[in-house]
Amino acid sequence: MSRSRRAWVGTSWKMHKTRAEAVAYLAELREWSGTSALDVDIAIFPPFTALATAAAQLNSTAQLSSTAQLTSAHHAPTGEPPSPSLHLGAQNMHWQANGAQTGEISATMLLDCGVSIVELGHYERRQHYGETDHSVNLKASAAVTAGLETVICVGDSEQDRQYAVAPEAVARQVKIAVGGLPPHALASVVLAYEPAWAIGTGGEQAEPAEVEAIHRVIRAALSQSHGPQAAEQVRVVYGGSVDAASAGGYAAQTTVDGLFVGRSGLTATGLIGVIEQFCAAATEAAAELAFLEGSAHDSC
Ligand code: PGA
Repeated sequence: MSRSRRAWVGTSWKMHKTRAEAVAYLAELREWSGTSALDVDIAIFPPFTALATAAAQLNSTAQLSSTAQLTSAHHAPTGEPPSPSLHLGAQNMHWQANGAQTGEISATMLLDCGVSIVELGHYERRQHYGETDHSVNLKASAAVTAGLETVICVGDSEQDRQYAVAPEAVARQVKIAVGGLPPHALASVVLAYEPAWAIGTGGEQAEPAEVEAIHRVIRAALSQSHGPQAAEQVRVVYGGSVDAASAGGYAAQTTVDGLFVGRSGLTATGLIGVIEQFCAAATEAAAELAFLEGSAHDSC
């Protein structure tokens, strides 16, 4: 498996940060990204209340990648020096364009705030707010139609793992989530494997080999639903208690295209640490692969 897809690292702030805190965080991130030569997509998912402020902060330096500019799964064009691209994301959306949906937000509203990518199906939404495979599919379809990229979260439960049915549980979630999407739309999809048992303060750190096995299952499920060519376009990333210390272990797995981080991305320094560790290890793994296969492979 080559490193043909551009690395992707995202962080959701969940229910954290005021607008002022968002500005301070993004100023630090932007200062770093202005000097970095890493070939990586970075997506930040603030709470809804900070989206417009975050967009203004990123736009003021013209570092925010708009939907139209997204290179999605592809690396920077040859000849141009690579640098990180920053993307603004939202943590959820409703599938309707508008309507009597108290407390909900539509794709149109997100686009209006400068958002280019939306997170769907996170475990916490499935567990506490009634998100289902079907509603994730409705949202994914609406997002794609509106021109938003998506990061779709899937993951096995503690029980799925205990009874060794994680592969089928995850494959089912994947197939329902992307069901009915046109194959070309898969290039704008990031699939995040986030096992329920690894998320949060009580989470257990997943072994890289375990993550690699499920990532293969995810790619196979995408291939079954949309064909191998469309499946190859999807970035499959890992999330669940990842920090700078563990990022390299996941990056060494060539099936891992990036990371989706929670707590360790709550500070810009923490996120930058994860990105740098991931990219360093991914580059090393790609070089090793190239040596073994006698060919060149891209990485961050
Ligand atoms: P965590 O969150 O890194 O804080 O465990 C991960 C996630 O929810 O994506």
